[in-house]
Amino acid sequence: MSSQNIYILGIESSCDDTAASVIHNGRILSNVVASQKIHKEYGGVVPELASRAHQQNIVPVVHQAIEKAGITKSQLHAIAFTQGPGLMGSLLVGTSFAKSLAYGLNIPLIDVNHMQGHILAHFIDEDGFEKPLFPFLAMTVSGGHTQIVKVDNYFDMTVIGETIDDAVGEAFDKSGKILGLGYPAGPEIDRRAALGNPKAFQFTKPKVDGLNFSFSGFKTAVLYFVQREVKANPNFIAENLNDICASIQYTIIGILIDKLKLATKETGISHIAIGGGVSANSGIRQALKDGEQKFGWTTYIPKFEFTTDNAAMIAIVGYLKYLEGDFAEQGIVASARLKI
Ligand code: KG4
Ligand code: ZN
Repeated sequence: MSSQNIYILGIESSCDDTAASVIHNGRILSNVVASQKIHKEYGGVVPELASRAHQQNIVPVVHQAIEKAGITKSQLHAIAFTQGPGLMGSLLVGTSFAKSLAYGLNIPLIDVNHMQGHILAHFIDEDGFEKPLFPFLAMTVSGGHTQIVKVDNYFDMTVIGETIDDAVGEAFDKSGKILGLGYPAGPEIDRRAALGNPKAFQFTKPKVDGLNFSFSGFKTAVLYFVQREVKANPNFIAENLNDICASIQYTIIGILIDKLKLATKETGISHIAIGGGVSANSGIRQALKDGEQKFGWTTYIPKFEFTTDNAAMIAIVGYLKYLEGDFAEQGIVASARLKI
């Protein structure tokens, strides 16, 4: 990477996290995230509340990121922002803010695809973390996305599989809701799964052709299973919670690993990088590590703070695009369904 002294501010506001980060060349100087707690009360992200919270958070979050980086805004070389995909009202806040700031400072504006951000987060310079070698497969798993992407170069990516309905994080969160767990339920299921028997209960895996995923049928299977068991024993959930969580997690991981096996077979690529909030799951991390022994994979798992929605991943893409002189016009607009 370049030896120039480049400072880029990254801004992320695609869903329910307002985030800003300053990157100096490939290294992160600050990574500030304001997670919106308000959605917990509603059991999911409420778009209207999310955009209002972004409006409140964006100025202090950006201010903090610049301050923590130990620079002033006049030292910035460009402003990178998430153009999409995401919730339109949320994206508009970050987009408008980034445009105004770049205009005011008279520096380039750089549009970033959020999904490319999750993947290119692996290229942040971080001690103890190796960068993937091209070509590799990236699996992005979160509350909003589930994709397998063939990555031939920084900006040469092809989506080879994705969910046709719910994202994998939703499979965790909606199953948790059925069990009466709080939102988001993924971390709690993970914690309980470690204490339970993964083979206590069986859930059939959805049959989806090729490398695509489907999780809506799985959620319904969990619902019917729980309803049936609770009818027979009203204390079923309380008495079996760890085993149910372990069995749900085991099934979900099985679905992901099966598709990765197929993807490595079809592409001949055995280097696999993961990203997105669900990659925090300890069972998935273990299954990937096991894949190194069992299937000869090389796996890359980023630092946790670069895995969930964050602006460091937007800043690194901004830096890579800056080096290529790939800038946006002031007329650029947010795009809720932006594709890779
Ligand atoms: O990337 P993220 O912070 O936000 C987006 O959805 O884009 O991901 C949040 C998702 C939620 O569905 C949450 O339940 C899930 O990641 N998650 C987990 C774990 N930690 C977070 N799912 C399973 N196990 C975990 N340890
Ligand atoms: Zn995301």
